[in-house]
Amino acid sequence: MLDLRHRFPAVTEGLHQGWARFDGPAGTQVVDSAIEATSHWQRSGNNANSHGSFAAADACDALLEQVQATVGRLLNVDAASIMFGPSTTSNVFSITRAIGHDMQPGDEIICTRLDHDSNVSPWLLMAQDTGAVVKFAQFDPANGRLPPEAVTSLLTDRTRWVAVTGASNAIGTMPDVATITTAAHAAGAYVMVDGVHLTPHAPVDVSAIGCDVYSTSSYKWYGPHASATWVEPGLLDRLHAYKVRPAPDTGPGRFMLGTPSYESFAAIDAAARFLLDTGMDVIQAHERAVFSRLLDGLLADDRVTVYGPHDLNERAPTVAFNVAGHDATDVARSLAAERIAVWDGNYYALEAMASFGIEGAVRAGIALYVTDDDVDRLLEVVHGL
Ligand SMILES: Cc1ncc(COP(=O)(O)O)c(C=O)c1O
Repeated sequence: MLDLRHRFPAVTEGLHQGWARFDGPAGTQVVDSAIEATSHWQRSGNNANSHGSFAAADACDALLEQVQATVGRLLNVDAASIMFGPSTTSNVFSITRAIGHDMQPGDEIICTRLDHDSNVSPWLLMAQDTGAVVKFAQFDPANGRLPPEAVTSLLTDRTRWVAVTGASNAIGTMPDVATITTAAHAAGAYVMVDGVHLTPHAPVDVSAIGCDVYSTSSYKWYGPHASATWVEPGLLDRLHAYKVRPAPDTGPGRFMLGTPSYESFAAIDAAARFLLDTGMDVIQAHERAVFSRLLDGLLADDRVTVYGPHDLNERAPTVAFNVAGHDATDVARSLAAERIAVWDGNYYALEAMASFGIEGAVRAGIALYVTDDDVDRLLEVVHGL
């Protein structure tokens, strides 16, 4: 059994020691090497800025190249096209703003009802500004699946972009984004994949997916609050970046607004190395085993409604559920009273919650430090409500 809990000081010591942390989908605890990398960087004297004429400035340039290379290995993409920003939401807004510059009234965008709102609202707002039309692909609320045809049947010769999630942050579903991308490209459309919930839970090969933009946020995979977004190199240079004049005219620097967080780069690099060293297939197998216990236990309780898939196929280890006769917030509070952290509400998956006809649900997600014992504790509270 993979046991990496000792790599997470926040879990084994400190204020929240002893808590079962099912809140990973909202942000994981940070791996020791990422914590140390931040501190090491800030003590090193290398903290400067890019493109200077002295050693510390060179170290900043080298750090950016290093973190791009590491994240590039994690995602299997050309590293030089990875931009970093404070969050995926912020990066998606920058990119959609640039895309909007070239949108014509009547151009079409396909979003999905499975997506986190960070891959929906930026498109809706851009469409409002440009006269473009947003169409929604509907997943099947009975099983939480988004078959490729739900998206591809909406493609027309006016479709410019498809925005689809790699994995739902609410119910875990992982749509077949490679098939969607192939069809979108055949129709002349670009594809943006929100990889925020996919990246921590499965091996990702962005080159095989073939999409044009892929975004991930390192605070979901044991790193700092930051985001890495890959944009296909040709597209990256073609997009009309809204930037200050002295900023680079080519490459990801066009979209990295202002001075980046070098301390975050150091930590992102360490967190990505942690994933690479552990192996995403190993992480996936481990999480699946722990998750299976959780899912089985919830499904066995007649009073529990599990939203989304009831099986382990093509999904992240994340489940949304409600308990009959209990408000989701009350369930979360009852769990918190036993030192068990879960999320309740809509987690910004607005369209998904509306598709289920609910305002919110309890969400529990498996991260590397969640154990079978944690699962049993959660189930005991839920069964006892
Ligand atoms: C699937 C998904 N996409 C996007 C986001 C937004 O990420 P960020 O907080 O980096 O903007 C989240 C955050 O919860 C998410 O789970």
